[in-house]
Amino acid sequence: MTRRTIESLRDEIIGLDEPIPILGGKEQRYVFLDNAASTPAFKSVLAAIAEFLPWYSGVHRGTGYKARVATAVFDETRKVVAEFVGADPRRDVVVYGANTTGLINMLAARLGTGPDGVVITTLMEHHSNDLPWRKHGKVVHIGTDSRGGVDMDALRDALARHAGRVRLVAISGASNVTGFINPVHEVAALSHESGARILVDAAQLVAHRPVRMRPHDDPGHLDFVVFSGHKIYAPFGIGALIGPGAFFREGSPTLVGGGAVSYVSLNEVEWADPPHSEEAGSPNVTGAVALAEALRILGSVGMDHVASHERELIEYCTAGAREIPGITLYGPVDDPGIKVGVLPFTLAETDHALVATILSTEGGVGVRNGNFCAQIYMRGLLKVTPEAEKANRAMSCDSASLPGMVRASLGCYNNRDDVDAFLGMLGKIARREYRGTYKIDPDTGSYREEKFTPRFPAGLVRNGAGA
Ligand code: ALA
Repeated sequence: MTRRTIESLRDEIIGLDEPIPILGGKEQRYVFLDNAASTPAFKSVLAAIAEFLPWYSGVHRGTGYKARVATAVFDETRKVVAEFVGADPRRDVVVYGANTTGLINMLAARLGTGPDGVVITTLMEHHSNDLPWRKHGKVVHIGTDSRGGVDMDALRDALARHAGRVRLVAISGASNVTGFINPVHEVAALSHESGARILVDAAQLVAHRPVRMRPHDDPGHLDFVVFSGHKIYAPFGIGALIGPGAFFREGSPTLVGGGAVSYVSLNEVEWADPPHSEEAGSPNVTGAVALAEALRILGSVGMDHVASHERELIEYCTAGAREIPGITLYGPVDDPGIKVGVLPFTLAETDHALVATILSTEGGVGVRNGNFCAQIYMRGLLKVTPEAEKANRAMSCDSASLPGMVRASLGCYNNRDDVDAFLGMLGKIARREYRGTYKIDPDTGSYREEKFTPRFPAGLVRNGAGA
């Protein structure tokens, strides 16, 4: 077997050299800098799926040979996930769901705060680690410090103020907007001191840094960790929540139905052991195979190598970005050691949606713009006044009418050529050297070059419409 290295990961990426159309009728390779939204898939992930599919069958239900093979493969994937985050195989379980959002919603419904309990979260969260808690109980929001990370003093105060009532501290491992890495083990120790558990939303962390839950008797132990396959090179509709089996043995599951029970009568239901109790319905076995393979690959390279490669690249990218006229960078810009490879920015007098559109249309660079489903954090970073907030009020997640930024986000396979292509085009935009004429659609807030209507790949979009 060839030894995998951080350099060889670039060859693992599906579609990296797929030509895409740009303005002027030319084609070029896609520069993929939107890894915080979704990463491309590893080739070995696809190969693992292809190897598995001839043996595909329902799991935990059949006695047929394929059902037994598929069950063994599926069960094995949980071990890979648990190992990847350093879970305790005797005490923790790996629960699969569709993605981080779905699993946090599940946990929030499962937790319930009762009339007196509270969940503490922060003002830097993705909506998915805020709204589910609000839906199911009282939530206390902790502010951020000057670098954009959780304000630890405010956390201490809140834990003291609500002593004995905090059921959970729910915090992002790394921000999807600024990349800020929160000191989750320190947060865990404080939470445990006050009798609370901690959930780390690791959707933006797990593909970029080693994540260790640490032993249960360690004060910095992470009780729950959740992440998505589509942000870790396995975009096949799966996410994982890792947490204590004992927690899931209490109460009743959020989603109920087949597979979640061991006994049913008209008057009585006995829930299956976790994780099965939490996975009613046929599980996404293929997604689990994909996820486990992606984790095996990253594990064999070593997450420390991934982290140092991405750190070197974000430093390179940040240094280049600082030279762009009119740019403002956000988050812990001067301290790349406390962030993952995310570069959020605005360009003076150029709408974030327009910048992102030109990057794509003329530079073939895929980034994201908007508020990144973190509207509260975004308003704080942009220092939007309450009056301006009122004027801008709308609920859409990515409308150009809302305050926003452009975000370039790195993955383990990106290199300096990608960053150079991005910075080169960004420089042209800043110097007004782009070629197209762009119009905004007032209904959607998105821009379009007036003559650029490239066709989508035939066979994928059958009505042949252009972009
Ligand atoms: N949460 C993902 C992002 O930040 C979708 O882009």
